[in-house]
Amino acid sequence: METPSLWVMQQIFVTLILLIQSSVAVNRDNFKTCQQSGFCKRHRAMTPGQSSYEVLPETVNVQSTSVNLQLLNTVTNVKLTLELSGLERSTARIKINEVEPIKQRYEIPVGDVLVEEPKRQGLKKLEQTSQSLTLGIEKNKIVISFKPFRIDFYTEDEPVVSINAQGLLKFEHYRTKQEAQPEENVEEAKEGEEPKVGDENAEEKPAEEEQKKEEEEPDLWEETFKSFTDSKPHGPSSVGLDVSFPGFENVYGIPEHADDFALKTTKDTDPYRLFNLDVFEYELYNPMALYGAVPVMMAHNEKNTVGIFWHNAAETWIDIKSNVADKNFFSKVADFFKQDSDIPQTDTHWFSESGVIDVFIMLGPKPKDVFKQYAVLTGTTPVPPLFSIAYHQCRWNYNDQDDVKNVDANMDKFDIPFDVIWLDIEHTDGKRYFTWDGNKFSHSVDMINNVASKGRKMVTIVDPHLKKDDNYKVYADAKSKDLLVKNKDGNEYDGWCWPGSSAWPDFTDPEVRKWWESKFLLSEYEGSTNDLHTWNDMNEPSVFNGPEISFHRDVKHHNGWENRDVHNIYGHLVQQATADGLILRSDHKERPFVLTRSFFAGSQRNGAVWTGDNIGEWSHLKVSNPMLLSLNLVGITFAGADVGGFFKNPDPELLTRWWQAGAFQPFFRSHAHIDTKRREPYLLPDNNMKIVRNAIRARYTFLPYWYTVFYNTYKNGGPVMQPLWAEYPEDKLTFKMDDQFLIGPSLLVKPITEQGGTGTNVYFPGANDVWYDILTAEKYLGGKSVYVNAPLEKIPVFQRGGSIIPRKMRVRRSSGLMHDDPITLFVCLDRQGKASGDIYADDYHTFQYQKGKYLHRQFSFSNNKLINSNADKNGSFETKEWIERILILGVLKKPNAVAIKIGNQQQQLAFGYDPNTSLLAIKKPGSKLQEDFVITLL
Ligand code: NOJ
Repeated sequence: METPSLWVMQQIFVTLILLIQSSVAVNRDNFKTCQQSGFCKRHRAMTPGQSSYEVLPETVNVQSTSVNLQLLNTVTNVKLTLELSGLERSTARIKINEVEPIKQRYEIPVGDVLVEEPKRQGLKKLEQTSQSLTLGIEKNKIVISFKPFRIDFYTEDEPVVSINAQGLLKFEHYRTKQEAQPEENVEEAKEGEEPKVGDENAEEKPAEEEQKKEEEEPDLWEETFKSFTDSKPHGPSSVGLDVSFPGFENVYGIPEHADDFALKTTKDTDPYRLFNLDVFEYELYNPMALYGAVPVMMAHNEKNTVGIFWHNAAETWIDIKSNVADKNFFSKVADFFKQDSDIPQTDTHWFSESGVIDVFIMLGPKPKDVFKQYAVLTGTTPVPPLFSIAYHQCRWNYNDQDDVKNVDANMDKFDIPFDVIWLDIEHTDGKRYFTWDGNKFSHSVDMINNVASKGRKMVTIVDPHLKKDDNYKVYADAKSKDLLVKNKDGNEYDGWCWPGSSAWPDFTDPEVRKWWESKFLLSEYEGSTNDLHTWNDMNEPSVFNGPEISFHRDVKHHNGWENRDVHNIYGHLVQQATADGLILRSDHKERPFVLTRSFFAGSQRNGAVWTGDNIGEWSHLKVSNPMLLSLNLVGITFAGADVGGFFKNPDPELLTRWWQAGAFQPFFRSHAHIDTKRREPYLLPDNNMKIVRNAIRARYTFLPYWYTVFYNTYKNGGPVMQPLWAEYPEDKLTFKMDDQFLIGPSLLVKPITEQGGTGTNVYFPGANDVWYDILTAEKYLGGKSVYVNAPLEKIPVFQRGGSIIPRKMRVRRSSGLMHDDPITLFVCLDRQGKASGDIYADDYHTFQYQKGKYLHRQFSFSNNKLINSNADKNGSFETKEWIERILILGVLKKPNAVAIKIGNQQQQLAFGYDPNTSLLAIKKPGSKLQEDFVITLL
C-alpha cells in the first residue's frame, strides 16, 4: 500500500509534468545526444575505409535460395556468420550474427513485425572466384567481395546499393567481463574530440590499437545518464553497418522525426535517432527521436527506387552523408569550373544497441515495386471502417456525459458532420483504464448509444500503465498472473505516469497480449459497447521518472530479454493487442479502430498513428505534411496530426487553415491540451466556422475516393498520402517537394501553411497532364508552377485530368448515415479526351469484405464513351448505392444526345453543358453501382 505522503508527492509530480507540458519548449537535457550514448559514440568514431572483416572463402556455401559464409574480424579473430537469402519480388535479406555467442542475441519473433517467414526465391550462382561471388536474383546482380568484405547490388548493371563499402561493419560480440582496468588506462572521451565519420583529420590508428581502446571504453559495462545508471549486465552488444546508395542524391523515410521529407546529411548534427520517446513540445527540423520508429529508408532517382529495412527493435541511430549535400562552397565552385559530373551518392550508417544485423534490401526498380516489396514483408492497413476515415472531434477532455451530449448537439445545430467523439484520461476513475468516473459518466452506455443513434462512434483512451492499486482489478489480475515487466532485480517494475505509481504489462509476451485482449470484452470493460473504440497513448512507454522519460534499459521482459533489446516494438505490440481485443469483442465480425502514439514497422496493420503533441503554431501545421509523407512512405498510411495543434491557443486563421489541411490528410482529428481554450469548430467566429464547416463537408464528399484509395493500398501497399515522385518518378523537380502532395493517384493538395497567405505557387506535375481546380473547374497545364489564389475560404486542391473520382455530394451528420447514398462521378478528361478511375465499396464496417463481399468497379472514358465494368470478379456485393450524376470536365463540344445502355436496354439521359468550363453534367443515369453500363455522348 502506498503511504499518503507518497501519494501526495506523486500527485505533485504529475501536476508538475502538466505544468511543464503547458509552459516550456522541449527539455533537450532529458534526452541523450550521441555523445551521451556509449554505442553511438563508438560507432560514429569508426573511420571509413578500414574494414577489419573479410570473407573466409572456404566457408562459402551457395544453395538454391541462399548463401552462407563466415566473416573473420582480422583484429579480434572473432567470426561472424552471414546468410544472404533471395526473397520473392527482387528482395534480398542479409543476416549477420555471432558464430558461437556466449548468449543468444535477440531476434524479433516472426509475426510481431514480419507478417510471416518471408518466401524465398531462387538465387543463381553466376560466378565464383577466390576473390568474389556473383549471384543473380531476377534482373539484379549481387556481388560479394571477400577482402575486404562488401556486397554490391546492381539493377540492370548499375550499382544501386552497397553494403560495407565504407567498411563500418562493427559487431560487438557478447563477452565476459574482464577485470576492471586501472584508472589511468581509461581514456575518457572528451566532448567534441571524437573523430566523426568522414572527418579528414581523424588520426589513423592501427586496428589493434582501436580495438584495445574500445575494450577500455568506460561505458561498456555500465552507463550513466543524468541520475540514472544502466547496469548493462551483458556488456556491449551493439551492431552496425554502412549502406551506400550509389547514384542517389535523395533518401527518405526512417520516421518519426519532425523534419523535411527528403532526409538531410548529418555531417554537422547528431545522427537521426530511432528510439521511441515521449518528447514534450518537440522541436522542428532536427534528428531527435520521437514517439515511433520505422527503420525503413528509400532512395529514389529518375531511374531507380530502392529501399532497405533494418529489422531491429533496439535503439538505432542513422548517419547520412551525401557527396552532393556535403560539398562545401569551394568544391562546388571547383566542380563548376571542372564541369565535374560526379555521380551523386548517399552513404548511410546504421547502428543499434543490440540484436543482430538483419537487413532487407528491396531492389525496386520503381517506387511502386518497393512499396509492394515492403508490403509483402510487414503487411498493409486493412480497409479501415468508414467512420474512422471521416472527421473526429477530440479534446483533453470532454468533461462529462452532458458535455458529450452538447458537443454532439452543437455539431448538428451548426450542420458540421462528425463521426467520432473522444474521451481522454479524465473520463476514468482515477486514471484506471477500462473504468469510468462514476460522477461524470454514470450512464456511459446511454451516452454511447445516444451518439451511435446518429451513426457515430466514441473512443476512450486506454494507456498501458496500470495504477498500482490492489483494488483496481486490471492491475490486481495482472499482478496475480505475473504479467508485468520486471526491474533488473526481478521485482515488479515501478514507474510514475498519470495515475502515480504504475506497472506495465509485458506486451512482448504473447500470453500477456491474449490477457489484454480479453479486457475489451463487453463483460470485462463495463459500461462499454461495440460502438466504443480505442486510443493507445503513452505507449513508448512514457515513464515520468524514468531515464529519457521511459523504461530503464535493464528492465526485464519475457524470456529474460531486456528493454534495450525490444524497446522500439513495445508500443507497437500494445496497439496490436488492443486491435485484437476489439476484434475478439465482436467475435471477429467488426473492424476495430485503434489510434496509437508509439509504433514500429508493421504498425500499419493495427490502425492509425498520430504525430503526438504538436504545437498550435504555423510551423507545426507546415511540418505535418513532411511528417505524414514520411510515415506514409513506409506503410503507415493511416496517419494524422492533431488539427489545431495540441498545445497553445491558435488564432482563428491558423485553426481554419489547419482544418482545411486536415481534411486532406489521412487521419483527420482535432485535439487540444486540457489547458487550452475550447475550440470546437462551432465556437469559431462565424466566417471561420463556415469555412471550416465547408472543409469538413468536403472531406465527407470525398469519402468514397478516400475509401477506394485505402482499399488499393491495402491490396498493393504504398502510401495514401503520396509524394509527387511516387506518381511521377522521373520528375526531378518533385524530389525534394514536401509542401504539396497527392492523395491517391488523382488529387493534388497544397495546403496553405503561412500566416496571412492568400495564394501559393502550385507545381502541377506531368508535362502532358492537365489539372482541374476542384472548386472552380479552372484548368492548369502540367509541367510548371503556377501562382494560385487561395483566400482564406480556399484550400488549393486539384483533380488530375485523366482521372475519375467518385464522391457523395449529399453530406449528412455522419458517414454512417451516408452508406447507401448515391454517387456523383467527377470525370476529368486528359489531353486525349480520356479518363479512368475506380470505386471500392462494401458494408463499410465488418470483415465480410475479406470473404469476397465487396464491389470493385472500374470506370473508363474514351471515344466519347464511359464504361462502368467490374474490376474484380472475386468480389460481389449488393449495395444500395447508385449513380446519381456524372460531371465530365474537358468535353470540347456539346453532344447532341447522351444515351445509357444497361444490358439490352438503351435510353436517353438529360444533360446540361457549359462551354465556358467545358463541363458536361449528365443527370440521373440512375444505374446501380454494381450494374455494367455504357454511356455514349452522341
Ligand atoms: C499525451 C497525448 O499525446 C495527448 O494527446 C493526450 O491528450 C494526453 N497524453 C493526455 O492523455
